[in-house]
Amino acid sequence: MSLLTKSTKETISRRSFFEKLGLAGLLAGLAGLGYQSLRSLVPNVLYEPPQRFKIGTPASLADGMTFLEEKRLYVFKEGASFYAISGACTHLGCTVKYAKLNQPKEIDVNGERRSVKFEFHCPCHGSKFYGDGTNYAGPAPKPLRWYKLELSPDDGQLVVNMGEEVEQHFRLTV
Ligand code: FES
Repeated sequence: MSLLTKSTKETISRRSFFEKLGLAGLLAGLAGLGYQSLRSLVPNVLYEPPQRFKIGTPASLADGMTFLEEKRLYVFKEGASFYAISGACTHLGCTVKYAKLNQPKEIDVNGERRSVKFEFHCPCHGSKFYGDGTNYAGPAPKPLRWYKLELSPDDGQLVVNMGEEVEQHFRLTV
């Protein structure tokens, strides 16, 4: 025979019920908090500009340099040859400025003589790059990136592929 009265049993059973309820509530709260913390790390929408885009027909580009401000990209046309150099400084990403030289400069890059007619200067911390993108002064640790250019097979427009880096010798000849 039980020593507990009916009323005592009811009190214990009620207490146990509320303890379980409290624990369940606490666990649910913690789970919700954990979910919110993880969810905040993932953006709802990823706004990334397209890596490949058209910039017009070869004939529509002016000879010399064209700066695509939105893309921070310098596109060069030399006769029938085209190439594209990123305007993003390799130090901390400021946009470098095109600086035309008064007279061509002979440079030595990895034992190779080259003649450059312009440079890129970074306004943020003073990095300087030769016209081929090679860094030669300031904190920039490496050359400006070169991106692949292609011709669109459907309409003959130039296509820049910022997802594919190329060497400084790259030229698209049309
Ligand atoms: Fe260009 Fe620092 S961002 S030198």
